[in-house]
Parts: sequence; C-alpha cells; structure tokens
Amino acid sequence: MNRREILGSVTAAALVGAAGRARAAEPLKVGLILPMTGAFASTGRQIEAACRLYLKENGADVAGRPVELILRDDAGAAETTKRLAQELIVRERIAVMAGFGLTPLALAAAPLATQAKVPAVVMAAATSSITEASPFVVRSGFTLPQVTAPLAGWAQENGVRKVVTLVADYGPGIDAEKTFVERLGKGGGTTESVRVPLRDPDFAPFLQRAADAKPDALFVFVPSGAGAQFMKQFVERGLDKSGIRLICTGDVVDDDLLPNMGDAALGVVSTHHYSAAHDSAKAKAYLAAFKAATGTRPNFMSVGGYDGMHLICEAAKATNGGSGEALVSAMKGMRWESPRGPMAIDPATRDVVQNVYVRKVERRDGELWNVEFATVPDVKDPVKAAKAG
Ligand code: PHB
Repeated sequence: MNRREILGSVTAAALVGAAGRARAAEPLKVGLILPMTGAFASTGRQIEAACRLYLKENGADVAGRPVELILRDDAGAAETTKRLAQELIVRERIAVMAGFGLTPLALAAAPLATQAKVPAVVMAAATSSITEASPFVVRSGFTLPQVTAPLAGWAQENGVRKVVTLVADYGPGIDAEKTFVERLGKGGGTTESVRVPLRDPDFAPFLQRAADAKPDALFVFVPSGAGAQFMKQFVERGLDKSGIRLICTGDVVDDDLLPNMGDAALGVVSTHHYSAAHDSAKAKAYLAAFKAATGTRPNFMSVGGYDGMHLICEAAKATNGGSGEALVSAMKGMRWESPRGPMAIDPATRDVVQNVYVRKVERRDGELWNVEFATVPDVKDPVKAAKAG
C-alpha cells in the first residue's frame, strides 16, 4: 500500500466513522400532538410537562441518541390532528407519534400510523376500541371500561341499587355507561341513563332529570377538565344535599381541578388508575418533581405521558432505535413500576394492564385528595377480555 492509498483508506475509515457518529447522534424524534389550547388544554399541559420531566430524568441518551420532542397543538380538532400527524411523518421523519388528548383525535391519527408504520402511543384518549384502529397503536393511559367495572362492583357491595348514569355523549362516555349499566344490572341493580354533549355542556337539565328519578346514586363520567363545571352545577341544583350519592370515574375529580372543588367533593367515591395521593416512594418522588417543575399537582393525564415516554425510550433502547414494527413489538409485554403502581402492556391487545384503585375525597393538611382505600389488581380492559373469551 502506498502513502496515498493508506491516506485514502484512513480518510475513508474516518469518514465512515464520522457518518456513523453523525447517525448515532441524530435525535430520536417523537411527535407529540396535544390540545395545548381550547377546552382541553389542561390535558395538553399535564402531558407535555410529564414528558419533559421524564426526559429530563432519563432521556438524554437512548440507544446513543438524545430524544427530541416536537410538540404540536391540535386545539382538540380532529382534522388538525390528522394534518399535524401527516406533517410530522413526512417532514420531520418522526420515529414515534404520541399524545392524543381525546378519542376522536386518536382515531384521526390511527390510519396514518398504519400507513407510515409509525407507532402511535396513546397517552390520554380512553375509549376501549382505539387500540383496534391500528396495529401501531399502543396505550399508556387507561380505558373507561377498565376503571368503571370496579366502581360498579364497589356500588353493588355497598348497597347501591338504583343509579342514574350521566356521561359525556361520545366514545369514552358511552363505554363508561355501557360498562356500569351492564355490571350493576348483573347484580340486580337498575339504571336510567342520560348523556350530555361533549362540547360546552350545560348539566342543569340533566341534573334535574337525575334528581327527579331519586336514585341511590348518580354515576358520572365527564372528560378531564370538565369536572369543575359539573361539580358547580351539582351544588347549584342542591344535589349535594339531596341524599343522592355521587360516584364517578377519577376523570371527574381530576387532581388538576380537585383542590378548587370545595367541600361538595368531600366523600365522593371514584375509581381510577392514578391518584396524586398514591402511597409509594415512586409516586411521592413523582409528585414532588412534577410540583417543582410546574407548581401544580400531576393528574392522571400526566402519568399517561410519563409512562408513554418510558415505553418509547425503553423500546428504543431494546431495539437500538429500530423500525416502527420493531418498536411496537418491543413495547408488547413490557412491564414496569409507574408512579401509579405496577403496569404492563398486554402483548395481545397493546392495551394497558394495571391496578384500579377505589378512592374517596378527603381533606388532608388543608387540601383535598383522592385517598385510595382498596385495590383491584392487574385489571385488563374488560371489553377486549370479553371478546378474547
Ligand atoms: C377521551 O376522549 O377518550 C377522554 C378524554 C378525557 C378523559 C377520558 C377520556 O378524561
């Protein structure tokens, strides 16, 4: 080998090395599509803060690459979600998309995930069927049937026989209503159902109908962000003094809103997968870090974001930053300890398996909290479990 040849091969090797390093240092891009404005902006704020917190704690080096979040605001409009997902896939060449603050937004993005073979980590939207809309959807939040079934069980065990259900009239509300009505019915209870519009609901006429039926309890689902308005009208209609018990999914007594709900919320029993009062070392550290970063309490939406980032980062590590298909298969069956407790991704359904807690609103050190008092362990989405037989 002459000098020129040696120099040439050294240069070539150096170039290959440099290109390799450049590739290795290229960020792993995660497109985060959330409602950052509009009626559901609290969901966007909570999830964004949690994703950034997770990355601050863990995300500088994932399979040799830093994780880069590219945040886009869909303002809660499905056409916007779809356009943003398209842009992120084509122009930014994202490895993963994530977020999705409402069911219609997740459903708008799912066909693009399939076409582009880009995983879509659903951090918020909670209608059971979303995971069936694309084999590239993996859920890090929860489903409404999953958290509602244990509440119907609790109601039965506690002498609640006659219930009016009041839900937001779209996917997750209908899932919650169906689950509650079916479960209570099996135990011999009776139900009457009313549905309220998702956008700008005026609860007053529905609350009047509920009060007139004189049930033992009112079961409620409204999406995160709407609970304060519901509670205000519940009190204005005098239902807090009517002897009708209020029971709900944790969406209604969301930790974001609960501190300002006032005494009417005291004693409300709900079921959910996360409470800011969850009693574990991991949950306490998460509460402290989230509060330090944002000045507010983390809610259940935030853990959907935090755990979704865990899922993305761990899958990227396991596959050394692999293809969309490799990332989804690495996510299947993953299990870990979250601030909510133990959780896993069901490899058969790509849906989340987790504990559901029964909680009651109590005042502690001057603040309202959802204090967990019973645990139903390792709950799968019951709609898919029933289909699987
Ligand atoms: C949904 O649209 O799927 C959704 C939104 C907020 C919730 C629950 C479900 O709190």
